[in-house]
Amino acid sequence: MIPVSTSVALREQVARRRRAGERIAFVPTMGNLHAGHMELISEARRHAPTVVTSIFVNPLQFGANEDFDSYPRTPVEDKAALETAGVDLLFIPEAGEMYPRGAAQMTRVEVPELGDILCGAYRPGHFRGVATVVNRLLNLVQPDVAIFGKKDYQQLLVIRRMVEDLGMPVAIMGVETVRESDGLALSSRNRYLAANDRAAAPRLYAILAESRGRIVAGEAPAAVERWAMEALRIAGFRPDYVSVRRQADLAIPMADDRELVVLAAAWLGKTRLIDNLEFRLDASTGAPV
Ligand code: PAJ
Repeated sequence: MIPVSTSVALREQVARRRRAGERIAFVPTMGNLHAGHMELISEARRHAPTVVTSIFVNPLQFGANEDFDSYPRTPVEDKAALETAGVDLLFIPEAGEMYPRGAAQMTRVEVPELGDILCGAYRPGHFRGVATVVNRLLNLVQPDVAIFGKKDYQQLLVIRRMVEDLGMPVAIMGVETVRESDGLALSSRNRYLAANDRAAAPRLYAILAESRGRIVAGEAPAAVERWAMEALRIAGFRPDYVSVRRQADLAIPMADDRELVVLAAAWLGKTRLIDNLEFRLDASTGAPV
């Protein structure tokens, strides 16, 4: 694996592989890698002989009161894991390389509506920060395919929309959420959880699964959302939202929508967890497919 920290070196390495006719798959991350990230890398390897990964804790996507300073940074362990996974090129820039004029001066990419609802409403500017950095990374790497996790469902849709709207020549792939055996979605933020909060954390996924069951059984989404918010509170969470949406665009579902996703964000102590569960209803019976 070749680590590069400048966009000039990155472009040079990518161009060399392009000249050799190789397809390029790209996996952007903020580091502190876990098995969820490594699954994206395995998926990338299935798509292209050259795999490029980036590690950059992006200041633009953190709010003023969020955890940018305390976000876990483990570059030594990350490099070893990426090397073992057979990553070809690691882009690991400093902030000054990504935002040469300073983050505040950067041209920004905004995905209206889709970036403003759900997590966007609770983290104003978050998805603008995500879209801005992913746009810049995709322009620097110019991959054929880029891989993202469904764990960050709204992020995946925001990026798909950006790529479509800006006519970017890259395929965006979504990978299923990797979970602990108790159901908790792997996340770099799980390490912040105190022991009692870690014990409660799997309830988030369990409550999403029960919400799906209730929708399938015919309960109205609004009633299920209210039930799930209360169930989360009883389990010790402070929920931001639980919402049943259409998979395609995260709009509130119409009566005949069949491809749904239930999404939630909830706090345990100082840690904000997100999770979601996709499901399909059979057109005639309403039963799960
Ligand atoms: P980060 O949180 O490091 O996640 C990098 C990628 O790993 C994202 O696509 C995310 O959805 C995926 N991922 C995280 N946990 C996962 C899990 N348990 N199962 C499957 N995939 C998982 O998301 C970001 O970084 C940033 O916003 C980024 C896209 C890099 C832009 O800064």
